Amino acid sequence: MAAENTNAFDKRDAAPEGCAPSECGTKSACAGCAKNPNAAQQPQKPAPKVGKVIGVVSGKGGVGKSFVCGALAVMLRRMGLRVGVLDADITGPSVPRMFGVREKAMGDGESIFPAQTESGIELMSINLLLESDDAPVVWRGPVIAGAVKQFWEDVAWSELDVMLIDMPPGTGDVPLTVFQSLPVSGVVVVSTPQDLVGMIVRKAVNMASMMNIPVLGLVENMAYALCPDCGKRVELFGASHVAQEAQRLSLPVLAQLPLDPSAAALCDAGQIERLQSEALMDAAAAVAGQVGLK
Ligand SMILES: Nc1ncnc2c1ncn2[C@@H]1O[C@H](COP(=O)(O)OP(=O)(O)O)[C@@H](O)[C@H]1O
Ligand SMILES: [Mg+2]
Ligand SMILES: [Zn+2]
Repeated sequence: MAAENTNAFDKRDAAPEGCAPSECGTKSACAGCAKNPNAAQQPQKPAPKVGKVIGVVSGKGGVGKSFVCGALAVMLRRMGLRVGVLDADITGPSVPRMFGVREKAMGDGESIFPAQTESGIELMSINLLLESDDAPVVWRGPVIAGAVKQFWEDVAWSELDVMLIDMPPGTGDVPLTVFQSLPVSGVVVVSTPQDLVGMIVRKAVNMASMMNIPVLGLVENMAYALCPDCGKRVELFGASHVAQEAQRLSLPVLAQLPLDPSAAALCDAGQIERLQSEALMDAAAAVAGQVGLK
């Protein structure tokens, strides 16, 4: 599997060359070695200096969670904040592509350096470590959760005001582990109009509540479309239920976003940083306000 020989984390764990009993515990690589008697006393890596961690979640895939995550990062950056994006959707990574980031992440054997986007957003994604973007990640849940934890702990993030996490979709094991191992300040729930009718959104909201993580609000994506000829607003799925659902859950509606082919085209072209959206800018400002960023 390509992931095995390109994962720069492996170098960190490698035994020092010519490891002899007299050298035991003297090399930096000894930190992770079970034979090292000093391992217990090794200082813990300092936690990343990140002001607020915000998860972007959805009840299921394909609702535009990654798009909203990337777009919120862009807007928060435009507000002048120092922003990072951690792509925790290991089996469906799409963040680097939206930002047009192609080069692989560099490591120095100790940590991995995040990629930088044009506007200065720091990124980490499994796609930056895999040799080819289309290689499927076939790891089991615990390995995936471990990789996400390493993205948090072992990546040399700069001092950031806010980090957005593109969470794996659904309410399974992996999002659960991510919630448990990262200091998430709050989550934004993304859904499409159809999912607001059923239990999908409520399940995502309930999961966050059970983990004692505040839900910052709902984003209804692909809520409507604008006619390209006359600009008329077309509600593709009938009248929206987001207001009703938000009220039932006592949550704010952060944004209602149109199905916008030009936004999709920007994402496909790796140019999400050129996106203009008042609704998403307002949503970013609301989220920043809620977690106490300014
Ligand atoms: N509001 C939107 N208008 C047009 N295209 C969108 C919109 N939101 C998402 N997309 C597109 O739909 C596809 C799925 O979105 P994505 O963010 O990858 O979903 P998820 O992360 O929930 O699986 C992507 O190609 C994305 O560019
Ligand atoms: Mg995605
Ligand atoms: Zn029209």
